[in-house]
Amino acid sequence: MKFFVDTADIDAIRELNDLGMVDGVTTNPSIIMKSGRDIKEVTKEICDLVDGPVSSETVALDADGMIAEGLELKKIAENIAIKVPLTWDGLKACKTLTDAGHMVNVTLCFSANQALLAAKAGATFISPFIGRLDDLNLDGMELIADIREIYDNYGFETQILAASIRSANHMSEAAKIGADVATAPPAVIKAMANHVLTDKGLDAFMSDWAKTGQKII
Ligand code: G3P
Repeated sequence: MKFFVDTADIDAIRELNDLGMVDGVTTNPSIIMKSGRDIKEVTKEICDLVDGPVSSETVALDADGMIAEGLELKKIAENIAIKVPLTWDGLKACKTLTDAGHMVNVTLCFSANQALLAAKAGATFISPFIGRLDDLNLDGMELIADIREIYDNYGFETQILAASIRSANHMSEAAKIGADVATAPPAVIKAMANHVLTDKGLDAFMSDWAKTGQKII
């Protein structure tokens, strides 16, 4: 499973990228707002740092507007994936942009039917939002499994980009189901390294080592 980082925090992206943990980056209008930076400026910085796709989201609500904004965002760098919402106009924009050879990430997907339409429209990535479904006491992971099954049934090449990931468990669950990509905030990716038994075991080793009075260096 590829890891995308869901942030515009340059330092956090750099830290994970240096460890080889970053296959791409996703942003959205809320993430840009949180960064407090100019969208083109911060996106360019991310694209210079990361080799993989960097999703940058349009904000127009009509297809022509999305296409125009998408092409403008695409000027930032070659590795821009144009992000459009899963609306009827978003699907139209997706078809036009993918036909023209651009990567398109269709976002705000909450149903298997929406994902099926995005694949038919040629989306490069479909972004089902796990956490926001869980917030409503629905099962976000079940949606990932349903989309996986449907795409595999028909050989759709659209990559499933599990999004709105809120916990380390979401990462492993998405990987077990076979999501192609998962995008998560840096803190969630780092939290994947944590285990209470690792901490406990390390404490015991440290205290026993101290009793030996030895040094390695
Ligand atoms: O990838 C989409 C993501 O940014 C949404 O996450 O936590 O706002 O639902 P969240």
